[in-house]
Amino acid sequence: MADTTDLSFAELTADHLHDVLPIERESFKDPWSLASFRNFIVLYRTSWVAMRDNRVVGYLVTQWVLDEIHILNVAVHKFERRKGVASFLLDSLFERAVAHKMADVYLEVRESNESARALYARYGFAELGIRKSYYHDGEDALVMHRRVRKSDR
Ligand SMILES: CC(C)(COP(=O)(O)OP(=O)(O)OC[C@H]1O[C@@H](n2cnc3c(N)ncnc32)[C@H](O)[C@@H]1OP(=O)(O)O)[C@@H](O)C(=O)NCCC(=O)NCCS
Repeated sequence: MADTTDLSFAELTADHLHDVLPIERESFKDPWSLASFRNFIVLYRTSWVAMRDNRVVGYLVTQWVLDEIHILNVAVHKFERRKGVASFLLDSLFERAVAHKMADVYLEVRESNESARALYARYGFAELGIRKSYYHDGEDALVMHRRVRKSDR
């Protein structure tokens, strides 16, 4: 099990975006723009960063609608992967989900994204279905779902 005791969890704010943008660009073929992040964090306060030594090492962007959480974006700095950062972010999210009595978590993931699919499978997400040609390059998305459990706190 990775040691994540040196990580801290904080709300993603405009001050973090200079660290977030390079991670976003190296992580995705269709990265969110600076404006997309800015607009989102102004509207919703449901995005978080994992920090180590005052630097952002990963982030998680979610949208909360009624009792459902939608994971819109999650990425970890390429030199910080396989050290438990995404797991730390998901654990912190589920802890909050229990505290706020949320029921379900949904996400989409590229069919070819084996690392993310392995992460979500480990967290007990199940495949609900496929959104055909969901991404700009025509790739399908898998829709995944997991119930929030009282034991997630
Ligand atoms: C997917 C991603 C967020 C995982 O972040 P991470 O911090 O490396 O994940 P963790 O260290 O918490 O991994 C937890 C578990 O997930 C699985 N996993 C993560 N990366 C994996 C990989 N490359 N191959 C196989 N399994 C992997 C493993 O079960 C891992 O546990 P282990 O390291 O003990 O074997 C990261 O690879 C990333 O930023 N990718 C690019 C952006 C992206 O694809 N985001 C998801 C969009 S849906």
